[in-house]
Amino acid sequence: KALIAEAETFKAQSKEEVEAFRIKYLGSKGLLKGFYSELKNVANDQKKEFGQTINTLKKTAEDKVNALKQELESKEEVKGIFGDLSRPGEPIQIGARHPISIVKNQIIDIFAGIGFNVSEGPEIEDDWHNFTALNLPEYHPARDMQDTFFIQTNPDILLRTHTSSVQVRYMENNKPPIRTISPGRVYRNEAISARSHCFFHQVEGLYIDKDVSFADLKQTLQYFTTEMFGKSKIRLRPSYFPFTEPSAEIDVYWGLETETDYKITKGTGWLEIGGCGMVDPNVLENCKIDSTEYSGFAFGVGIDRIAMLLHQIGDIRLLSENDVRFLEQFKSSI
Ligand code: PHE
Repeated sequence: KALIAEAETFKAQSKEEVEAFRIKYLGSKGLLKGFYSELKNVANDQKKEFGQTINTLKKTAEDKVNALKQELESKEEVKGIFGDLSRPGEPIQIGARHPISIVKNQIIDIFAGIGFNVSEGPEIEDDWHNFTALNLPEYHPARDMQDTFFIQTNPDILLRTHTSSVQVRYMENNKPPIRTISPGRVYRNEAISARSHCFFHQVEGLYIDKDVSFADLKQTLQYFTTEMFGKSKIRLRPSYFPFTEPSAEIDVYWGLETETDYKITKGTGWLEIGGCGMVDPNVLENCKIDSTEYSGFAFGVGIDRIAMLLHQIGDIRLLSENDVRFLEQFKSSI
């Protein structure tokens, strides 16, 4: 009877253990064999009970063997379908930061180092913030400099053509001294090619305080390009923007000592990265800043352009196609 209880509670982890159990109880030299051959020696009045007990033991042992076999087989089946469930999971593929984000974050860090904060604004803008406040009244021919996507006319609602609109918003809501950069996406109705797209990214900077001079602007830009490109020279080429006076294009030349030593891409030495100038007093007045007390400078650089220069990207379209073969290459730059 003790053996019946033992057989009932027996547990096995492997087929070998089940087989050993089977041999012990049911094998040709097993316990049951012994009991059966002993049956003839049992006193007649006990024969019935003894016989019943060993029959029960036999059945218990047989049932146990079958049950254990089934249990082990179904475990193996699960393994076959799902593999080893106790194994650690598949490693997760970690993505890469987008080159635009990488460069944008670098620019933010560089300007944070000299006290500029970050300001943001809407991509869908009104006419005032994108044009009129920036000294570009209606019918001003300079509006043609930036081909605009209009969402609605009269009152005009449009996709911002530059993040100067964010600077207007910032000036409206903050008193000088102001030191802020505005990164973001901008839109222009231009044909898409390897070099230009209908949307791209800018970081515009604004510095307003008492006695700000063009020398401050130039030094700030020189600091920026040195941090961004390493050893570099800048050149400010006279230009025109309605919101700055005087205005200039920013060219950068980076790397070696003389212009002929260093070719960044196919024969070009100086590369234009953006525009800049002293904020036009009209713009300050439009934003309720007293232009007799304050002056300031502004600049805007293209993030896409800088990313393309730094990472040797030959086609601007790669930056918005989201091809993983391209994006994966920036894993090490995070
Ligand atoms: N907003 C100008 C552009 O998008 C760039 C710029 C900014 C120029 C600030 C001068 C001063 O082209």
